[in-house]
Amino acid sequence: MFDINELYDYVYKEFKIKLEAYKEVQMHRRIEFFISKTSAKSIKDFIDLCKKNNIIKEQFLDLITINVTEFFRNMDIFLQIKDVFRKALPKKEKYMIWSSACSNGAEPYSVAMILENINVHNYKILATDIDKNVLDYANNGIYSEDEIGEVPNYYLIKYFEKYGNKYKIKNFIKDKVVFRRHDLILDEFPVCMDLILCRNVVIYFKKEEKMKIYNKFYKSLNDNGIVFIGATENIYDYQQIGFNKWGTFFYQKVVR
Ligand SMILES: C[S@@+](CC[C@H](N)C(=O)[O-])C[C@H]1O[C@@H](n2cnc3c(N)ncnc32)[C@H](O)[C@@H]1O
Repeated sequence: MFDINELYDYVYKEFKIKLEAYKEVQMHRRIEFFISKTSAKSIKDFIDLCKKNNIIKEQFLDLITINVTEFFRNMDIFLQIKDVFRKALPKKEKYMIWSSACSNGAEPYSVAMILENINVHNYKILATDIDKNVLDYANNGIYSEDEIGEVPNYYLIKYFEKYGNKYKIKNFIKDKVVFRRHDLILDEFPVCMDLILCRNVVIYFKKEEKMKIYNKFYKSLNDNGIVFIGATENIYDYQQIGFNKWGTFFYQKVVR
C-alpha cells in the first residue's frame, strides 16, 4: 500500500493544501486511481513524476481540489438569493458577500448577475478558492459555450459579450468581484459579511473541520447575515452555533 503521509507532506509543501482535513477514504480512493493511471509504482515515484512533469502535477492538483461548478448551480435554490436581499437582510448602504470555494468564478458572477437584475448595486463580492489556477481563470471571466450552458438567455445577453467563440463577463459585473486565494482549513476568515456562500466543498472535509468552518462563518457574519450551503448539505448543529434556519439551504445568524 502507498505511504500516504509522504504524499501529504509533498502536497502541503507544493500546494499548501492540508489533505489531513479531507475525508480519508474518498481522497485515498481518488489518489490511488489517479496514480494507477501513471507510470509510478510507488508514492516516491509519483512525487518524482510530479516534480518532473508539470502537466501531471497540475492534473493532480485538479484531482484533489475538484473544481466542478456551473453558473446558477441548482437554479431554483440559487435564485432564492433574490429573497435573501428582499426579505432576510436588513437594508444597508453596502452589502459584503463572500463566495468561498468559488472555483472558476461561475458562482460569484451568478450572484452579481442576480443582484444587478433586481437593481441591487451596492455590494461587493469577495470570491476565494484554494486553487490559484481556477482563480486566474475566474479573473479572466472568459467561458466556453459549454460553461455558460446554464445561463438563461436573458442574463447572457445582458451580462456577457461575445469573445471569439467564447463569452466574456462584462466589466461592470467583473468589477464587483475580487478574487483571492483562501484556504477554509488553514486561513483566517474575513469578517463583516452579509452573505456567505459555501457550496459543494465541505462535503469533502471531515466532520470536525466542517463544524469549525460553520462556527467561523458565524463570526464572519454581520447580525442577521446568511450562510448559503450546497443542495446536498445540511448544518446539523445550526442552533448550537447560533443560526436560525431561514430556508432549506440558508441559515441566518441570530442576534444574541
Ligand atoms: C466542487 S467545487 C464547488 C464550487 C462552487 N462553490 C459550486 O458550488 O459550484 C469545490 C471548490 O472548493 C475548492 N476547495 C477545495 N478545498 C478547499 C479549501 N480547503 N479551501 C478553499 N477552497 C477549497 C476547490 O478548489 C474547488 O474549486
